[in-house]
This record gives sequence, C-alpha cells and structure tokens, in this order.
Amino acid sequence: MSDLDTTSRAVLAGSAYRDERHLAARQSLYRWQQPTYDLPGIVLDHLPTGGGGVVLDVGCGNGRYVTRIRAQRPDLTVVGLDISAGILAHVAPPVAVADAAALPVADRSAVAVLAMHMLYHVDDVDAALTESVRVLSPGGTLIASTNAREDKNELDDLWSAAAAEVLGVERGPRRVSLSSRFPLDDAPAMLRPYFADVEVVELVGAITVREPEPVIAHLASYRTWADTAGVPFDATLECARRLLDSVIDRDGEFRISCRSGLLFCHGPR
Ligand SMILES: C[S@@+](CC[C@H](N)C(=O)[O-])C[C@H]1O[C@@H](n2cnc3c(N)ncnc32)[C@H](O)[C@@H]1O
Repeated sequence: MSDLDTTSRAVLAGSAYRDERHLAARQSLYRWQQPTYDLPGIVLDHLPTGGGGVVLDVGCGNGRYVTRIRAQRPDLTVVGLDISAGILAHVAPPVAVADAAALPVADRSAVAVLAMHMLYHVDDVDAALTESVRVLSPGGTLIASTNAREDKNELDDLWSAAAAEVLGVERGPRRVSLSSRFPLDDAPAMLRPYFADVEVVELVGAITVREPEPVIAHLASYRTWADTAGVPFDATLECARRLLDSVIDRDGEFRISCRSGLLFCHGPR
C-alpha cells in the first residue's frame, strides 16, 4: 500500500467517498461505543462566540458537522468543502468542490477551519496547514481530529487473522491504516510549526458489539483498497465474520478499544 492509494484524488472522490455509503458504515460503528462522545457538540463548544463569521469545514464528507453547526449557530456561515462532488450531494449549500491545499477563499476570511478526520488523506499536509493559516483571521482556530495508532487494534488483528486463514499462512497482511499519515500521536508536532498554541483532547473508549454485522460493515467499507490488501477481499470478509461469530458465541461480545482525539489550534503563525 503506497500513500498514493489513500491520498489520490481519483481514488478518494471516485470510489472511497464517491457517496456517503462507506463513510456512513464507519461512522455508525460508534453507536456501540462507551462512553459516547458528541464530536460536533465538542466542536461547537470551541467555536468563537458572538460576531458571526465564516467557518470552513474542509473535507466535510456527508456534512455531520456542517448540519449541526448550522442548526445551533445560525450566526455563523458554514461552508462545506470536499474533493468529492458525490459526497457533497448529501450536504445543503453553501458547499464547493475544493482541495484542502488550495482553498477557494480569501486570506483571513474564516473565524474557524475544521479538518475532521481528513488530514491523513491529504497528499501534502504542510500545504493544507499553510492554506488553513492563510485563510484564518488572526484570532482564528483550526480544529482537527484524527485517530491514534493503536485505535481499533482489535479490528486490525481480526482482519489479519482472517487473511492468514484465507491465505493459509501464519500471519496475514494488515488492513489499510487510513490515519497513519496523520496519527494523533504525531499530530501536535505536525501542527505546532503553524500554530502558537495546540491543545489536544483525547477521546478514549470501547465499542462492544454482540452481533457481527456492524463490524463486518466497517471492514467492508475498506473495499476501495481491496486490490492492494494482498488477500481476496470477500473471502477475508467472510472468514472475519466466522471468527467474529465464534468470539461472540464464546464471550457474548466482541470489544474494540478506541483512541482518537481533537486538536484545537490557536494563533496561526
Ligand atoms: C473520513 S472522511 C471525514 C468526513 C468528515 N470530516 C467527518 O469527520 O465526518 C474524509 C473526507 O475528506 C475528503 N477529502 C480527502 N482528501 C481531501 C482533500 N485533499 N481536500 C478536501 N477534502 C478531502 C474526502 O472526500 C472525505 O469526504
């Protein structure tokens, strides 16, 4: 798996995020997480108050944050931006097809920029951060989010065990790690050259399922990268389902540990 596969505009806009299907499958797994975290609510708590202004949601996907912020902060103009025209069809205007590294807005025009679970897809993260700094007003905030390296380890182990069984080898290949180019572990150091103050809020929890379907839907959402998985994708999915069934039969549940976080970046340099 090369970086190209997880950062290519053609792959992301044409397949992975052509519509909201795969993203929605990944989002819905969090229904079984404890504690639950209201990410849009946490973002709302950190947006500047009073005076309105423009908020750019870069890589807005199916508009989870856009919709909530518009509903609760009508004083703000929230613009959804994404490289996928298909996924933007799920979001009410104003929206525009745009790349994080070339934002179609004037210098110092936004009070906040959101980059939620998306910087790991950007080919040149530094170019995207330079763009955020350019478009933010002097008191503006970048809010980013991503997963830690150890996030959902058990899913990696499950996939790898299923792949091993399908291939008849001792250790199967790992599944694609989307956030590995901008993991929570490294994100503060990557952001500090661009912002005077970077605050990290870690979100730790566990997803517990008592039926395989939500986990299988999550694993299936990586189908875009099936050709690079080094293993027959559908056969591995079926095997993962069998392995999961046997864990749930034995233990009554399957548990996935989660570690992710938000980064609040002030003082654009
Ligand atoms: C994992 S989804 C996150 C969606 C949303 N921010 C959320 O957290 O629910 C990543 C989104 O970033 C978009 N994206 C990827 N690379 C991008 C880029 N270079 N510029 C703008 N959007 C991009 C994808 O099309 C996709 O909709």
